[in-house]
Amino acid sequence: MDLFGEALAKAESDCRGLSFEDVTALLGAGEVERPRLYALADRVRSRRLGEEVHLRGIIEFSNYCTGTCLYCGLRSGGERVHRYRMEPAEILEAAGEAAGMGLKTIVLQSGEDPFYTVKILSGVISAIKKLDVAVTLSVGVRTPEELRAFREAGADRYLLKHETADPALFARLRPGTTLADRVGSLRLLKRLGYQAGSGGMVGLPGQTAPSVARDLLLMRDLDVEMAGLGPFIPHPGTPLGGSPAGSLEMTLTVLAVARLVMPEVHLPATTALGTIDPRGRGLALRCGANVIMPNVTPRRYRSHYSIYPGKTGVDRDPYASVREMRLLIESLGRREAAGYGHSPKKAYSE
Ligand code: 5AD
Ligand code: SF4
Repeated sequence: MDLFGEALAKAESDCRGLSFEDVTALLGAGEVERPRLYALADRVRSRRLGEEVHLRGIIEFSNYCTGTCLYCGLRSGGERVHRYRMEPAEILEAAGEAAGMGLKTIVLQSGEDPFYTVKILSGVISAIKKLDVAVTLSVGVRTPEELRAFREAGADRYLLKHETADPALFARLRPGTTLADRVGSLRLLKRLGYQAGSGGMVGLPGQTAPSVARDLLLMRDLDVEMAGLGPFIPHPGTPLGGSPAGSLEMTLTVLAVARLVMPEVHLPATTALGTIDPRGRGLALRCGANVIMPNVTPRRYRSHYSIYPGKTGVDRDPYASVREMRLLIESLGRREAAGYGHSPKKAYSE
C-alpha cells in the first residue's frame, strides 16, 4: 500500500496514533484520493458527533485594530477602511435578536481594540449571558488579568487562532509578535477554563505543506476544542494583495485531515470558504465540519468588516443569514443542534 493508503487505514483504526508523516501523506491526497479522504472524515464526524450542526451567531462589533498583520484588511494603517465601533447597547440588541432566533452561542468578534476596556466588555458579556446563551470571545490578545475577568463575567469560549505553525512565517506575517507567545496564550486560556479555539489559514504565501501538518498537530497537542481553518484570501489593500488565494480543494483536504487528527473537535465551515466558492460551506460540512457561523452583525456595519474582499453575506441582514444557514443544514439532511454546543470532549456544566 502507498503512504496515503497506509495513513488512511491508520486513521480509520486509530486516529490518535497519526504521526507527522501520516498527516503529511494525508494532506498530499491527489484528485483520485480525495474522495476517500472526504468520505472517511464524514464518517468519523458522523460517528463521533452525529448529524447535528452547531450554529454560532457572530457579532463583528468593532473593526478598529492595533495589529498590523500583513494579510488582513483591518490592519492598522490600512487605508480605505471605514472604522466603526458598536455601542454596548447595540451589541446587546444584536445578541438579543440572535437569541430570539434560537441561536445558542454568541461570538463577539473585533480587531484588537483597547477601547473596549475590561469593564465595558465584562458588562456586555454578563448581560448577554442573561439571554441563556454561550458566549465566545474573539477579541485578540489580552492580559491574563483581563482574560480571567472575562471568564468571571461568564465567557465560555475564546478563539485565538495561531494562524500558522511556522514560527518564521508567523513572525513575518504578524510583526512584533511570536508563535511562542500565541501558543502560551492558548495554554493560558485552557488553564482559565475556557473552551479554546485555534486555527489558521490555508494557502498563505510562503506556507509549506509540512507546516500545515504542524498546524494540525499543534492543535492536537494543545487539545483545543475548536479548529477554525479557512483559505487565505488576498486583500488588495495589504502587502499580500498580489498573492494567490488558498484553494477550495486544499482547504477541504485540510479540514478532512483535521477531522481525522482531532475526531471530536468543533470544526466550522468558515465564511472564508463560502467566499471563495458558493458551494464551499456545504462541501465542508460533508467532509468533517460540524459548525457554521451565521453573521448576525447589523447590516449597516457588515461591509466595513473587510478582513478580506468579497466576503459573502455582507448584503444580508441577520435574519436572512440565519435562514440561509438553516436551509443549508436542511438541504444536507443534517439537523440544527439544540443545546449550547459545548465541546463533547469533556463534561461541561451547562
Ligand atoms: N484571508 C483569510 N482569512 C483571513 N483572516 C485575516 N485575514 C485574512 C485573509 N486575508 C482571518 C485570520 C484571523 C481572522 C480575523 O480572519 O485567520 O484570525
Ligand atoms: Fe487585527 Fe486580527 Fe486583522 Fe491581525 S488578523 S490585523 S489582529 S483584525
